[in-house]
Amino acid sequence: MSIELRGVTAGYVQDVPVVRNIDMHVPTKAIATVIGPNGSGKSTLLRSVVGQTPQTTGSIVVDGAEVRGVSAHRRVIEHRVAFVPQVANVFGPLTVMENLEVGGARVPRKQQRRRISELLDTYPDLAAKRRIRAESLSGGQRQLLALARALMTSPTTLLLDEPSAGLSPAMMDSMFDAVRNTRDLHDVTVLLVEQNAVQSLEISDFGVVLVAGELAMHGPARDILSDPTVGRLYLGAA
Ligand SMILES: Nc1ncnc2c1ncn2[C@@H]1O[C@H](COP(=O)(O)OP(=O)(O)OP(=O)(O)O)[C@@H](O)[C@H]1O
Ligand SMILES: [Mg+2]
Repeated sequence: MSIELRGVTAGYVQDVPVVRNIDMHVPTKAIATVIGPNGSGKSTLLRSVVGQTPQTTGSIVVDGAEVRGVSAHRRVIEHRVAFVPQVANVFGPLTVMENLEVGGARVPRKQQRRRISELLDTYPDLAAKRRIRAESLSGGQRQLLALARALMTSPTTLLLDEPSAGLSPAMMDSMFDAVRNTRDLHDVTVLLVEQNAVQSLEISDFGVVLVAGELAMHGPARDILSDPTVGRLYLGAA
């Protein structure tokens, strides 16, 4: 559900912060997009919410519970946070079904079966490929599988790192549709990082601009989309 960051500073090595003093709030069932140049700390910011950025200070509140200091494992299981990383987000040699089973490995067996059939209903493209190895899927299908796999634990907070990377324009459209449908159908709050900033902001309620590890701007997605400086620097406007 809601995600709240207060004064979050995070990095990999002590005293070398990658993101600094981040304050942001994503209300329950909202979609927020983080944009910014390469290396500005977008993935690091997401990982700090997941619990994978070792040096993190400040407060991270998910669904009303402070999670800083809570292990990444417990954030998934107890705080229902799911994360789709930027790369290596499915197991290539495993089939679509097997990837979903691995995603739900900690879910009781009966619930796991039910969840798989729900997700295959939601994503018919995956249902058609259920016996196919992930490495044989198209890029778009693979991203969809990564999303479905993350949903196996029935998360309330979903973090996606560049879900549309490397996709054709048509596949990109269906990925963004899938993200919005996921929010609508599965009752999750979504925080995503995207290079395809315009399309992502168009399906988002809020936007965040991260520059050199600092929050340069945040607010309603439409305000970010219409901001002339952001447009010139990050949205490909003339
Ligand atoms: N595991 C790591 N260990 C040490 N430094 C890291 C690690 N991951 C990222 N960094 C450093 O943190 C900085 C921000 O990287 P990050 O991956 O968060 O940026 P990003 O905004 O996601 O970039 P991109 O748009 O290229 O994905 C970079 O200087 C990077 O070298
Ligand atoms: Mg990144």
